[in-house]
Amino acid sequence: MKFYITTPIYYLNDVPHIGHSYTTIAADIMARWKRLKGYDVFFLTGTDEHGAKIVAAAKENGKSPQEFVDEMSEKFKEAWKLLNISNTDFIRTTDERHVKNAQNIIQLLFDKGLIYKKKYTALYCVGCEKFILERDLDENGCCHDHKTKPQLQSEENYFFKLSQFQETLLERILDANHKEHIEIQPIERRNEIVGKLKLGLDDISVSRAALDWGIPVPFDENHTIYVWVDALVSYITAIGYPIEKNNPLTAYWPADIHLMAKDILWFHSVIWPAILIGAGLAAPKKVYSHGFFTIDGDKMSKTIGNVISPQALVDKFGVDAARYLTVSLIPFGPDGDISWSGLNLKYNTDLANNLGNLTSRLNKMLQKYFEGNIPSVKHNAALFEKVEQILNEDFTKEMDAFQIHKASDALQRALTLINQQIENDAPWALAKTDMEKLKECLFSYIQSFDLILLYLFPYMPIISKKIWEINGAQGDLEEIAKDYLANPKKYKDGFSKAGAKLQIAEVLFPRIQ
Ligand code: MSP
Repeated sequence: MKFYITTPIYYLNDVPHIGHSYTTIAADIMARWKRLKGYDVFFLTGTDEHGAKIVAAAKENGKSPQEFVDEMSEKFKEAWKLLNISNTDFIRTTDERHVKNAQNIIQLLFDKGLIYKKKYTALYCVGCEKFILERDLDENGCCHDHKTKPQLQSEENYFFKLSQFQETLLERILDANHKEHIEIQPIERRNEIVGKLKLGLDDISVSRAALDWGIPVPFDENHTIYVWVDALVSYITAIGYPIEKNNPLTAYWPADIHLMAKDILWFHSVIWPAILIGAGLAAPKKVYSHGFFTIDGDKMSKTIGNVISPQALVDKFGVDAARYLTVSLIPFGPDGDISWSGLNLKYNTDLANNLGNLTSRLNKMLQKYFEGNIPSVKHNAALFEKVEQILNEDFTKEMDAFQIHKASDALQRALTLINQQIENDAPWALAKTDMEKLKECLFSYIQSFDLILLYLFPYMPIISKKIWEINGAQGDLEEIAKDYLANPKKYKDGFSKAGAKLQIAEVLFPRIQ
């Protein structure tokens, strides 16, 4: 079973921030989850390196565009390394392999008669890298997203006959039984796209005459390919599709999920599928758009000075907590707001008080009453089964629907269940009265906790393995998780064997005051 997931390829005019890492961590969690479920996953991220915006940013920094993108793309690679992102490939639109493929696609469209030349005069927003209609500007005549005045451009450009694809797209988007159905999620955003699609489509310009920093149009060297067409094609370049006939990676196409925020959903759910269909290629199966978030109510911006970098999050919380907090603070889908105080609170509640506390109290009790060994008893499976139910049903349902904040809630519910069971059983009292019962209780807590760690892994790959070892559980967590998900019955007696030695737990999540 193959599974192909992508993040947007990010523009290099900006350094990586929590907006980029939000999408990338979410995609990473999904990729890791699918791998645990036995899928053969290809996970792509990368950088979008051409266009007017990059030229302007390079100039501002006193660099040539090439020098600038070489430097900036490294920053994205470093950020993803820091956040332990498990991407299979990192595509740059300046890669030789991509230049060839982008030219190949535009040539295919041209050969099929889907591209023509015309003179065009319109307003262009460099921030969006797109033409913009006057009616879509704010009261000051500025772009809503970038608060800048668009420039009037008048050029002879090549146009793609997007208008021809309205019906095909509507059919494929609306009919869930269509064999080439394009699913758009969440449903509210799908409805917005459908509403807009029903109004009709204008042809779009796919080349620039006045911009050198781009991929040359193969049939007219005076033009470069429009940066959005260039960028979208990178999703198929990375897997060699469609030109590398013997490349086994081409089998990953069509993509299972293109993930991004709502700002660029139109490009992914309308323009991209139309280009592919026009070129005679398969369109993506699913386009998933999450919301846009503000920081403390404000748009993230250098001017306001509220930009949160991946490094700042990792410095404060550590890698795994930074990953977990980034995606679990706000619902995945609607717009939201993130703040340091919100992150601190979530850290204390979910990580210090729930996960961290369970790790240390369980460890302390096993050290105190059983010299740090897993006691030997028959497994009382009641708690284990309740935890299993939350994970197998709630967690899995939410995760498969890409509701990663709800899946993390399910993890917390499962942890809380064990913490509550400890309160109810009061093992410290049992230690004085009923050693057999105490053994049974501790044994069931530890097995249930180990089980949660298998599902925590996609969010917190390092910490989950660390606790797994602290708990004296056997084998490599990732391998056991795969095996468990394929065959849960095999593990009905749990993961930490009687007699196994626990490690002494350090404080994993010190409380933040
Ligand atoms: N280069 C294009 C994408 C081309 S894909 C073929 C681009 N780049 S971008 O750097 O502007 O990235 C936009 C994406 O970054 C959003 O769609 C989202 O995934 C992520 N985000 C950036 N800021 C964000 C927020 N404030 N909130 C949520 N996501 C954010 O567009």
